[in-house]
Amino acid sequence: MKVINVCGARPNFMKIAPLMRAFAAREGMQAVLVHTGQHYDDAMSKAFFDDLGIPRPDINLEVGSASHAVQTALIMERFEPILLEEQPDAVLVVGDVNSTIACGLVAVKLLIPLIHVEAGLRSFDRTMPEEVNRVLTDVISELLFVTESSGVKNLQHEGINPEKIHVVGNVMIDTLLMQRELAAKSDVLDRLGLTPKQYGVITLHRPANVDDPAVLSGILDAFEEIQRTTPLVFPVHPRTRKNLEQTGLMGRLEGMSSMHLIEPLGYLDFLKLMSEGSLMLTDSGGIQEETTVLGVPCLTLRENTERPVTVEQGTNQVVGLATDKIVAAYRRVQAGQIETRVPDLWDGRAAERIADIMLRWHAQRQNNEM
Ligand code: UD1
Repeated sequence: MKVINVCGARPNFMKIAPLMRAFAAREGMQAVLVHTGQHYDDAMSKAFFDDLGIPRPDINLEVGSASHAVQTALIMERFEPILLEEQPDAVLVVGDVNSTIACGLVAVKLLIPLIHVEAGLRSFDRTMPEEVNRVLTDVISELLFVTESSGVKNLQHEGINPEKIHVVGNVMIDTLLMQRELAAKSDVLDRLGLTPKQYGVITLHRPANVDDPAVLSGILDAFEEIQRTTPLVFPVHPRTRKNLEQTGLMGRLEGMSSMHLIEPLGYLDFLKLMSEGSLMLTDSGGIQEETTVLGVPCLTLRENTERPVTVEQGTNQVVGLATDKIVAAYRRVQAGQIETRVPDLWDGRAAERIADIMLRWHAQRQNNEM
């Protein structure tokens, strides 16, 4: 079975890593890796290949940054000749970024079956670019691999044939469990002068949070209040940095006495930082899952989540964007203990299950053709 595997942006890399490893270990599986180049900085891309031992991409489309339409179109234009040349049995995409839908669309138009890893997640907020990417990718996929039971419900509700849907666990957690020991050796706390369990970590990059200066400024008000009692570390995403600089808000952040502003970190350093922190403030999707497994309280600075299991079973609270709500949630975390359990099948073996199901699926298709 020849599979073209696609990755493009930072959150894809930790998902593709265990899949490439599982495919390499299976006889009869030929895995080709395509990087679209949606993320291209060393800190946003190369660092993850190094940390996670992902094989060098066989092909890099080098599309870079652009508007959604231009970025998606460029990926499609450059991906099509590759599929025509390689003639794979399937294309596998992960997550919900522009690279996911762009490559998915090219595959199905060439009648090449599409496989989606992390299918079925829904925020029910169509103003999020990722939500549109998720819904569209799922509807054109032939095999849908799901991380949590809400995903099955969502897909069935949208009329997807249940035979295509497989709950397999979470490939992002495969990576976390595999890398945890190595991450523990990172010296990132020493480098930043931090004491375990006595600091919080921030990540922020969603357009809804960082593109509107009024919203961004309200979030900074909350950070200002929190860092008075808990030092905060903030690895700043390039999009956020650009907006902070353009709006003059960077000066305010720099003026906060217990705010450490740093460049985006590699995987191992970030995992160590997150594991030893007492609190996470984030608008990321994946970090809600990672903190659930690590048992670190997570305040999600969004109005919704597509990962409800992290709230029902994990450490996540969806607190919105209002300054007072964020600060109030912080005070509740300070005051209390949280009960947490790791969701079913988040056990480090999701990629193995996916590889097995793919091979069975392929064998069955070949039988049907005979
Ligand atoms: C993308 C994903 C988002 C994911 C995020 C993680 C989509 C629609 N969004 O958002 O789901 O959570 O990645 O980071 O696919 N930039 C750099 N260097 C890079 C990459 C980006 O400087 O290596 C800057 C550029 O100025 C660019 C901006 O970041 O314009 C945004 O990059 P883009 O890939 O369009 O989206 P993200 O906001 O990173």
